[in-house]
Amino acid sequence: MSGQRIAVVTGSSSGIGFETSKLLAKSGFYTHATVHKLENEDSHELIDTAKKEKLPLEVTQLDVKSNESVTDTINSIVKKNKRIDVIVNNAGYALGGALEETSMEEIRKQFETNFFGAVRVMQAAIPVMRMQRGGRIINITSLGGRISIPLSTFYHGSKFALEGVSESLQYELAPFGIKIVLIEPGAVGSNFWKSIKIANANSPNSPYAQLASNVTKTFKKMEENAMHPSEVAKTILDAVITDNPHLRYVVGNDASKTLEARKNMSDTEFGNLIKDQFKI
Ligand SMILES: NC(=O)c1ccc[n+]([C@@H]2O[C@H](COP(=O)([O-])OP(=O)(O)OC[C@H]3O[C@@H](n4cnc5c(N)ncnc54)[C@H](OP(=O)(O)O)[C@@H]3O)[C@@H](O)[C@H]2O)c1
Repeated sequence: MSGQRIAVVTGSSSGIGFETSKLLAKSGFYTHATVHKLENEDSHELIDTAKKEKLPLEVTQLDVKSNESVTDTINSIVKKNKRIDVIVNNAGYALGGALEETSMEEIRKQFETNFFGAVRVMQAAIPVMRMQRGGRIINITSLGGRISIPLSTFYHGSKFALEGVSESLQYELAPFGIKIVLIEPGAVGSNFWKSIKIANANSPNSPYAQLASNVTKTFKKMEENAMHPSEVAKTILDAVITDNPHLRYVVGNDASKTLEARKNMSDTEFGNLIKDQFKI
């Protein structure tokens, strides 16, 4: 195609979304860096960076939990730019906690953000990509979309669900030249860790208190060894610009080593490894 390529990124105020929006804009994409809340300080940082570096980047509000917010924003982008070449479904967070101690409201919010949020954006953007006969959808899942650790049931559930949907979706979209990519990072240093909530983790009366404490310690170590979000952004850019992207990109040594080891283990062997790690 000729003309400027248009990218839309969700959850751009920090971490992977922030770095990806900047990198896509620096690489020539007119980038709609969408943010959950325009009033957040992080969103201001993105607006200031775009201005200072004169990037082709526009910051717009988009709450992936809201049908109205997603359709309004995607429709206005299509009205203005007439096309969307790249969607990066990045917005997400991790809900932790034991199933019996997690409310349905918390669980729904996790799925509304991590899973239905991406689905909503795809539903809004696919018609224009289909009509233009091309486009790329990058869904950020996780190493946690391939393997699971304790007390993260619904985070894993939401990411496994997005993996399954994406894997099937590739077939219906292939005839229209739309390609789906899954990005599976290991630990990334971002606000993600601050926003993890382990339901009842601090309650000594919880039957899961000891496990929650072990999980919290492991999360701390993972955060200490985490890669910079720009590493993930680089992989996303590669997947966007290559002619024939893979379905999956694993990012980070921790993720690739874990998945390599997992390949050669039975479910029981891998389960025992996780149990050892978390002292179960
Ligand atoms: N960090 C990791 O170790 C890691 C590893 C594997 C995968 N991931 C995945 O990578 C993605 C990005 O995470 P990150 O590490 O960059 O964390 P982050 O810095 O916390 O960024 C998450 C972004 O999602 C946004 N967001 C949350 N709810 C939203 C909503 N309803 N609508 C729109 N935006 C929303 C956040 O905005 P607000 O802060 O304003 O809510 C924030 O901008 C997530 O999908 C996460 O699951 C992260």
